[in-house]
Amino acid sequence: MTDQPNSESPREVDLLVTGIGELATPEGEQPLSGSGMGRLSVQRGVAVACDAGRFVAIGPEAELIEGFRGRDTLDAGGGLAIPGLVDSHTHPVFLGTREGEFEQRVAGRSYVEIAAAGGGIRSSLEGVRASTELLLLEVLLPRLDRFLQLGTTTIEAKTGYGLTVADELKGLDVIAAANRSHAVELIPTCLGGHDVPPEFKGRPEAWIDVVCAELWPAAASKAAFADVFTESHVFGLEASRRLMESAREQGLGLRMHVDQLTSLGGAELAAELGAASADHLEHVSEHGIAALAERGVQPVLCPLVPLYLGEAQEAPARRMIEAGCAPALSTDFNPGSCYCMSLFEVMSWAALRYGMSAAEALTGTTLNAACSLGLGHELGSVEVGKRADLVLTDLPNHTHLTYELGRNPVRRVIKGGAAVH
Ligand code: NIG
Ligand code: FE
Repeated sequence: MTDQPNSESPREVDLLVTGIGELATPEGEQPLSGSGMGRLSVQRGVAVACDAGRFVAIGPEAELIEGFRGRDTLDAGGGLAIPGLVDSHTHPVFLGTREGEFEQRVAGRSYVEIAAAGGGIRSSLEGVRASTELLLLEVLLPRLDRFLQLGTTTIEAKTGYGLTVADELKGLDVIAAANRSHAVELIPTCLGGHDVPPEFKGRPEAWIDVVCAELWPAAASKAAFADVFTESHVFGLEASRRLMESAREQGLGLRMHVDQLTSLGGAELAAELGAASADHLEHVSEHGIAALAERGVQPVLCPLVPLYLGEAQEAPARRMIEAGCAPALSTDFNPGSCYCMSLFEVMSWAALRYGMSAAEALTGTTLNAACSLGLGHELGSVEVGKRADLVLTDLPNHTHLTYELGRNPVRRVIKGGAAVH
C-alpha cells in the first residue's frame, strides 16, 4: 500500500499522520453488498502520508517516518482513524427551524397530519423564498461547520424548499457558493419534486409541466442529481415517473424518496428508472428489494427518521443486505423529519435498529455513500490514490463507532490532505 519512498533522502509530503491506534476502512471503488459490507481493512501501527490532496502512502509507522517528511504533521494520539464520512442525503438549505412540529408529534400528531394542516415542507417555503442567496449562505455555513466537527467531509445537499424555478435555482447557487467557501464538499441535488407548491394546489400536473420544461433544463448545469418525494400525498408513481424521466433526459442523475410512509412501489420505479439511489424505504416490499438488488440501485437509509417522526416501521436493512443490495446510511438532515447532523448517531442507530455491525455501519457512511454519489473512485476509503479525507477520533477501536452514543469522538478532520478542523 506504499508508494516507493526514495531510499536516500525522505520524500517531502504535505502531511504525515502518525500515532494512529487503529486505521479502519472499507476498500475499493465499488459499493459493498452482502457479506462484503462488513469486511473492513483494520490495521494497527500504521501511519498515513498525504500529498497534493491525496493519500500517497499508508504503511508501518516506522517505515513512513523514515521514508517521508511531512511539511505538516499530525499526531493521532493513539485513537481510531477512519475515512472522512460521507452523508449521501441531506436538506441543508433552509432558513428557520420547526421545533413546534416536533412538539406536536411528540404529543401524538403524525407527520402527514401536520403537513395537511399547512406545516411540513410547505412551512419552510416562505423562509427560503423571502431570503437572498447571501442570507441562505450565512445560515448554511455554520451548519457545514457542525458537519465538519462531526467528521463529515462530503454531503449530498438538496434544494426543495424553494419550489419556484427561481428559488430552486437560488438554492443551487447557495450550494455552489458554499462549495467555494467551505471545506465540506457539497454534491448538489435539485429537489424540484419535493412537494406541490401552494400556488399549484389541486393541479400538480401544472407544476410538473414547469419542472420538466423550465426547472430541470436550467438546473442541469448546476446540479448533479434530481430528486422527487414519491408518496401518495405528494407525487404518485406516474407523476414521479414523468418528473424523473424528464430529469434524466436533461442529463441529471436520479435520487428518489420512496416507500417512506407507505408501500407505494417507489422502489420498483427507482429500479426501473435505474436511479443512483432509492432513499428511505421503510415500507419497501420484498419485490421492491429484489428489483433494487437486480438493477444495482443503492438504498440510502435514514435510521434516525422513523425515530424522529414517531413511526414504528424501520427499513428492512438486513433483508436488503441479504438480497445483495449495498446500502448507504445518511442523516436526512432537514428541519422537519431529522434535525441531526451526526453520522456517528446514525451508525449507532443502524446497529441498534437494523442489526448492523460497526463495520457495516462504517461502510454505509463511507464507501457505499460515496458510490451512491458516483464518487467511489475518489472518496469513501483510506487508500493510496484516493482523495485524502481522514477523521481522527479518540475511540480505541472501530467497534466503538456504534457502541458509544451521544458524544462526538472527533479530534481532527483532514479534507483533501489539509487539517481543516
Ligand atoms: O426526507 N421526505 C421528504 N423530505 C424530507 C422531509 C422534509 C421536511 O419535512 O421538511 C425527508 O424526510
Ligand atoms: Fe429527505
